[in-house]
Amino acid sequence: MSKRKMLFVFPMPALLLVAIMLCLCCSQLSCKRKSMEVKAKMSIQEQSFGQTPDGHKVKLYTLTNSNGLKARIMTYGATVVSLEVPDRNGKLGDITLGYDDLDGYVKNNPYFGAIVGRYGNRIAKGRFTLDGTTYQLATNNGENHLHGGIKGFDKVVWDAEPVKQKDAVGVKLTYLSKDGEEGYPGNLKCSVTYTLTNDDELKLNYEAETDKATVINLTHHSYFNLAGQGKGDILGHELMINADKFTPIDNGLIPTGQLQTVKGTPMDFTKPCAIGAHINDDFEQLKFGLGYDHNWVLNKKGQELTLAARVYEPNSGRVLEIYTTEPGIQFYSGNFLDGTITGKQGKVYEHRYGFCLETQHYPDSPNKPNFPSTILRPGQIYQTTTIHKFSAK
Ligand code: BGC
Repeated sequence: MSKRKMLFVFPMPALLLVAIMLCLCCSQLSCKRKSMEVKAKMSIQEQSFGQTPDGHKVKLYTLTNSNGLKARIMTYGATVVSLEVPDRNGKLGDITLGYDDLDGYVKNNPYFGAIVGRYGNRIAKGRFTLDGTTYQLATNNGENHLHGGIKGFDKVVWDAEPVKQKDAVGVKLTYLSKDGEEGYPGNLKCSVTYTLTNDDELKLNYEAETDKATVINLTHHSYFNLAGQGKGDILGHELMINADKFTPIDNGLIPTGQLQTVKGTPMDFTKPCAIGAHINDDFEQLKFGLGYDHNWVLNKKGQELTLAARVYEPNSGRVLEIYTTEPGIQFYSGNFLDGTITGKQGKVYEHRYGFCLETQHYPDSPNKPNFPSTILRPGQIYQTTTIHKFSAK
């Protein structure tokens, strides 16, 4: 081979090498730029979400964290309208049930994404006695009171202000529930602050004060489907609940007052178990609840923030972990969803297309002296925290 030819042959791979190195450098640079862009994406946007039939303007806040997770929260019911989190391939999906517009929420809402109060869950016959006075609350679930009554906190418009932190974006919602509302005593000033952190957590901080002794049990009522909203039932999700006991109920879903061990029953989620594995077992408690609709007694000593539940969805790889300062968690397997609701993006919500994990004090505590107290007195501050942490594996 002549020298000339050699010279002609060798520069080609050399050039190629230089080109490859240049490409690598550029792609690294653009990667860096991309991650800077992503970081810069952490934002809070405010927009109108329409008006209630009685003329209240509703706002929608879109929170985006530095990893691109997105929570949309509206002031009607302090409601999570959507929650986009990544699957194991990094693909975002909306994992909460709900409606595309306000109208859906106003017309027919089984508490999708809402804050429920003044008392989340049931109070038997809507009645309780506090300091010698008997209070009769609105009854809206047969003879019982459920989730704050006929017009609970899920159906009122909250005030809102954006919250900016170094590693989180959020919105603080406030509401004044007047003395006598739905039958409850005391003017109750309450707030719920949602923050979306750069650790991929949706954090809820609840606070309240009253001017008269009252009862309070605030919780959050998102229906989750980690495969994506409207994408099938939740029976294949694997659930762990950090609880050795639950509070058994009667056929009106009111706790009997006992604490029962989960051992050897379909209520045992101390180790991860598919929600559908035992849901149709011949077990009286499941008959009463028409599936799971019970409060679990969390394994904990006091009010420390502890892991309450973990849910894993095998197809998407999405994982939800719930941490709370509360003593209990209601696991509701969407038993009353029956295909009559068409939700976001035209998706029909069939039986058990979503589940709720509502951190709370136990149901009917105002009538159960052996349950942790839900009484709030003037001068005391009600303060609880619940964290929803998202990841994928
Ligand atoms: C309750 C269910 C109820 C549902 C309403 C849940 O928190 O436990 O019994 O039907 O809310 O959507």
